[in-house]
Amino acid sequence: MKRLFSVLLFGAVAAVALVRAAGTDGEISFEYHSYDELRKALVSVWLQCPTITRIYTIGESFEGRELLVLEMSDNPGTHVPGEPEFKYIGNMHGNEAVGRELLIYLAQYLCNQFQQGNETIIDLIHSTRIHIMPSMNPDGFEKAAFQPGEIKDWFVGRSNAQGVDLNRNFPDLDRIIYINEREGGANNHLLQNMKKAVDENTKLAPETKAVIHWIMDIPFVLSANLHGGDVVANYPYDETRTGSTHEYSASPDDVIFKSLAKAYSMYNPVMSDPDRPPCRKNDDDSSFTDGITNGGAWYSVPGGMQDFNYLSSNCFEITLELSCDKFPSEDTLKTHWEQNRDSLVNYIEQVHRGVKGFVRDLQGNSISNATISVEGIDHDITTAKDGDYWRLLAPGNYKVAASAPGYLTVIKKVAVPYSPATRVDFELESLMERKEEEREELMDWWKMMSETLNF
Ligand SMILES: *[C@@H]1O[C@H](CO)[C@@H](O)[C@H](O)[C@H]1NC(C)=O
Ligand SMILES: *[C@@H]1O[C@H](CO)[C@@H](O)[C@H](O)[C@H]1NC(C)=O
Ligand SMILES: [Zn+2]
Repeated sequence: MKRLFSVLLFGAVAAVALVRAAGTDGEISFEYHSYDELRKALVSVWLQCPTITRIYTIGESFEGRELLVLEMSDNPGTHVPGEPEFKYIGNMHGNEAVGRELLIYLAQYLCNQFQQGNETIIDLIHSTRIHIMPSMNPDGFEKAAFQPGEIKDWFVGRSNAQGVDLNRNFPDLDRIIYINEREGGANNHLLQNMKKAVDENTKLAPETKAVIHWIMDIPFVLSANLHGGDVVANYPYDETRTGSTHEYSASPDDVIFKSLAKAYSMYNPVMSDPDRPPCRKNDDDSSFTDGITNGGAWYSVPGGMQDFNYLSSNCFEITLELSCDKFPSEDTLKTHWEQNRDSLVNYIEQVHRGVKGFVRDLQGNSISNATISVEGIDHDITTAKDGDYWRLLAPGNYKVAASAPGYLTVIKKVAVPYSPATRVDFELESLMERKEEEREELMDWWKMMSETLNF
């Protein structure tokens, strides 16, 4: 919080500091950022890297703070057909502050490295549209940060300003999918055509509603939600099938989810350390292996954001717990950054795995909302507006089908390496065309017959 006070007390000094931060020397300053400082930090990145960044807001918190997003891409503000979209969300629990800070540093790091000509980062920004929201709960953070004293209370600021725990506030789609698994029904996009019901639902906090719209409006492929209080990468499902407190709850994409979670944990020396003692003496870490855990196996969470992403959209999300302390002292932030930097970059790169491509008709027109299904995995994804799709998959051989109402389904065999994604395009023949062709064939035959028989 040091900088906030300097803004209040020594305005002139702070103004100088701000100009320096906006310069191109690109030093990251490892401090906590109040809401105002967070805004300024994002604006500084935008000023430093204006051609590859954009700042936008997806809505407001209950107390009217903006839910700010920094976007990084070579075409800020537009979805480039074929280019996958990625998001990071921090600080959903306002008192879990490390993720919020790491996302600010990440934005600064990506901008600095891009300017310094780092090929890895340049390639990443050219091939991916990255959205970074450091704080989903800015009201809770202010409350947690401005508690008196050095030691932060474990719960103050966790909820939003209405007292809603945002990670229990999402529509509980797990309950629907568990019924559909048994009785048949949709295996994806469970909120299809229900946006109005979301808007009218008075139980949803403004932060939750804003994020639901965001998830459903942008064709995100991959995401992570940054928390604190433990050190592990947690993957779906979070809610158990039977309602019991601890139970391994595999999603149809268990294999790739484990691989994605490991892609984060393996670059973090603390998270992946098999000998790391539990954060607190009585913590039950028995479900953790290689720094990852299934959500339900750890403890059941109904109404969480992670499973909501997977069940309402094409986006695969995991939940990252980044530090034993939810709000550690400021002098540890640099160490937290160093422990997570490579993981944060490597995880974004996972968006370029599996199978991707376009679905079009025989005239080359894109088919949006076509279904991409993989044999043996009971979770379909759909094409975006330009007929483009991204289907995350672990290495292996697959049969992938593209289908859309009114078209003949096409199935292709695909070999998938670890990365990059295999490009597979589909051309679907319209059933109308097929009928037309058949009619013409019949007419030709009839003509021929008539001529032969001299009708
Ligand atoms: C470029 O960025 C990658 C990914 O963060 C990093 O591992 C690498 O060290 C950077 N290279 C240089 C020269 O800084
Ligand atoms: C997408 O397709 C599904 C079924 O194929 C349909 O229920 C849904 O309404 C379509 N969505 C849009 C936005 O067209
Ligand atoms: Zn949390």
